[in-house]
Amino acid sequence: MDRRNMSTGNVAAVIGMAVGAMLFSQGAPQDSGGLWYQAWREAGLAGVPASPAAVCIVAGLCAFILGWLYRLLFRPLELLRAPDDVGYVAEDGRSKAQAANEVRRRRKTGGLPPVYPNGWYRVLDSHLLQRGEVKHVCVLGEQVAVFRGQNRKAHVVDAYCPHLGANLAVGGRVVGNCIECPFHGWLFQGSDGKCVKIPYTDKVPDFAKVHRWPSCEVNGQILVWFHCDGENPQWTVPEQKEITKGEWIYRGRTEHFVNAHIQEIPENAADLAHLAHLHAPSMTSGVDLRYINNKTWKFVRHDWDVQWEPESELNKHCSQMLVKHSLFVFGLHWPLLDVHVVARQVGPGLVYLMFQHSFLGRGVILHCVTPVEPLLQCVTHIMFYQSNIPAPVPKFILRAESIQFERDVMIWNNKKYISKPLLVKEDSAIQKHRRWFSQFYSKNSPRLQYQLNTLDF
Ligand code: FES
Ligand SMILES: [Fe+2]
Repeated sequence: MDRRNMSTGNVAAVIGMAVGAMLFSQGAPQDSGGLWYQAWREAGLAGVPASPAAVCIVAGLCAFILGWLYRLLFRPLELLRAPDDVGYVAEDGRSKAQAANEVRRRRKTGGLPPVYPNGWYRVLDSHLLQRGEVKHVCVLGEQVAVFRGQNRKAHVVDAYCPHLGANLAVGGRVVGNCIECPFHGWLFQGSDGKCVKIPYTDKVPDFAKVHRWPSCEVNGQILVWFHCDGENPQWTVPEQKEITKGEWIYRGRTEHFVNAHIQEIPENAADLAHLAHLHAPSMTSGVDLRYINNKTWKFVRHDWDVQWEPESELNKHCSQMLVKHSLFVFGLHWPLLDVHVVARQVGPGLVYLMFQHSFLGRGVILHCVTPVEPLLQCVTHIMFYQSNIPAPVPKFILRAESIQFERDVMIWNNKKYISKPLLVKEDSAIQKHRRWFSQFYSKNSPRLQYQLNTLDF
């Protein structure tokens, strides 16, 4: 449960307790006008003396149910996993963190492609950055400060101040549309990174500036452009009009950390064969790959009909995966639960999962992969859905998606990247995907450095 939901639950619990206390203070159950007494009587407990403890338990239970209902119906889903939470096997008395560290230490990295492809990457969701606020984010091996000026425009600059290296995002202040360093008060403009004021000198040298990242704010997200040679953006981030117009509204997000090379994640879309194996067992059988084929849920199966294709030369940085999902219970097809998804990949770090259902409406999950370090990816799924569809529907879809995703995470966290995989002809889309993805690397794309100096057999 996230902090926001916890506080909502706490508020509901406090209200419930207050209601309970009020009811209790109304006196003994002989007061037949009391609502709680009516419930008491219906439960066949009339005449039984109510103890304060029983009243508190009933009130607490009501508060809990009310809080749960409130969260289900009105709050967005917030599922934020810590880096070691998912995809590791903690056995022999080890903690998950120990298991994760061991896997990372022993991992054979294989012949990895460059670690940071050129493209747009999400750094923060818009609603997490208020006007005048600054946040610290690790992205592509760098530390950045993301801040929102008084004109509401968001900016991304290197976190370390070029003067003496203080972190602008730790104690730095937004002043107008600039960021002020917490150490000596130098003031940097968000629009170009230029220093516009040094409190103890009259002349600000021209060269005084902090590196500013090309950024944009689209679909409720703040994104940065990365190119290893500093080239300008080669495409724009597509706007989802329904989000901008407010027809589709925010219904929740999930966040996971994946210990793998970034390319492994989008490659999943072209790995058609894994769907029938890894994602066919019912989502009710969970995410731990050791148990997903258990007998209890064998009677429920997911079926996936999938195609993957790059888009035309005009949009060569995009590709599409077309998915038809069906559900089978005891071998019988339930057509009402058929879902069609178009997963449009835009560059190396963004995928738009467009949902369409005959009566459950339309929406999108924005799937974003942002490298934090060479082999650590932050993956978020942000759900926007038709505003007239009750929140539990998109929240259920997002939860179902995250269950299937966590199965992949367990694979990625423990696997090795194989540069020359042993493929059969039915796997041909994987090679096609690798060729397509190679457009995001260029000659100077950064590679994993320590491989040269370590014993990596
Ligand atoms: S370190 Fe930032 S102003 Fe000195
Ligand atoms: Fe998958």
